[in-house]
Amino acid sequence: MEMDLQGKHILLGVTGSIAAYKSVLILRHLVQAGAQVTVVMTSSAQQFIAPLTFQILSHRPVFTSLFDPSDEIRHLTLAEQVDLILIAPATANIIGKIANGIADDLLTTLAVASSSPIVIAPAMDGDMWTHPVLQRNLSVLDGLGVHVVSPEEGPLASGKEGMGRLALESRIVAAVLSRLRKREDLKGETVLVTAGPTREPIDPVRHITNRSSGKMGYALARAAQGRGARVILISGPTHLPAPPKVERISVQSAEEMREAVLRCWSEVTVLMMAAAVADYRPRRRSDQKLKKDHEPLFLELEPTPDILSEVRSRRGHRILIGFAAETEDVLSRARSKLEQKGLDLIVANDVTQEGAGFDLDTNIVTIIDANGEAMALPKLSKAEVAERILDRIKELKSRLGTGSRPIH
Ligand code: CTP
Repeated sequence: MEMDLQGKHILLGVTGSIAAYKSVLILRHLVQAGAQVTVVMTSSAQQFIAPLTFQILSHRPVFTSLFDPSDEIRHLTLAEQVDLILIAPATANIIGKIANGIADDLLTTLAVASSSPIVIAPAMDGDMWTHPVLQRNLSVLDGLGVHVVSPEEGPLASGKEGMGRLALESRIVAAVLSRLRKREDLKGETVLVTAGPTREPIDPVRHITNRSSGKMGYALARAAQGRGARVILISGPTHLPAPPKVERISVQSAEEMREAVLRCWSEVTVLMMAAAVADYRPRRRSDQKLKKDHEPLFLELEPTPDILSEVRSRRGHRILIGFAAETEDVLSRARSKLEQKGLDLIVANDVTQEGAGFDLDTNIVTIIDANGEAMALPKLSKAEVAERILDRIKELKSRLGTGSRPIH
């Protein structure tokens, strides 16, 4: 790891946990690896350890206050300058504040003002770690692309045993390195992600849809943007906010999604079809609300266009990724879709498994490549699954050596 962080500017945030003394070791690791480190401490962190320790080891001033008459826009200048923000240890308090956009001191203000990647290493008592509020806040952060280095199990300061010990310094520094390495590795790519369900209208007030929440597609869009790609997100109806710097196009039906994909096609180098596109739509859409008449009602359905199959013939050098949410024979069904649709990769999941599928923040997927080789991933956050899928795309790109420009 020697000097792997040469030229990088890292902001190390230290918060008020008994593990604050371990930040000193983290700082030393980062400095030894060549990073320039600016330490920002919360006021409770200073109850545990003095700023002077960090100042001496970082060879830089330590910042503790938002309000300093000599530099009243410090939070903005620092936020723009750093390559990454690492908060270690991160208390339940700071996690709650950042997850809810509360910016009431220098560190929280920096965290919500910066567009740099954020890595946090929580440390707290076991009961706080398992508390539903903390877990909810962590999943909000995860959804925003914050990398969480999970704590470890063992003796806690309270005298109890449990989850909550700050992760080992080596794990924290490794997370910083991997986040920084990935930062620009999709630069030059234009990634098109489709996400969410489609709605196929029956009449002005009713439609056919499915249970997709869009979370996997949004996680992919956010992760690809974080790795330097230009990202276009074509989204069916969801309640999710557009990830920062992603170009979102909102659509309703499969046909609208198809048209939007074709409109962008000439600029795209990678397509990830994470949307759960309806396979059928009502053959006729009533202009007026259908009335009940106590008789059975038959809806005639017709197939929608298959978007992946349609773009296959104009793929050029583009990489095509499909998704298969299945309830049985998961791998064999996914393999046949991969073949039928001419995909480079298919991401399969069994939506009946606990921790996988609709509207969850986690997923359990198997990534299958064009040789039929399957890589089964454990249960991971959707943000982490997205990173793994992008790692595979990166690998494919370097193996195929096609460069990133599409052929028209
Ligand atoms: N897909 C698509 N256009 C459609 C339907 C699906 O491009 N009209 C894409 C999905 O976005 C997904 C992949 O095809 O990436 C597989 O979708 P899925 O619904 O699982 O497969 P189908 O081919 O529709 O087969 P089935 O529904 O019978 O499982």
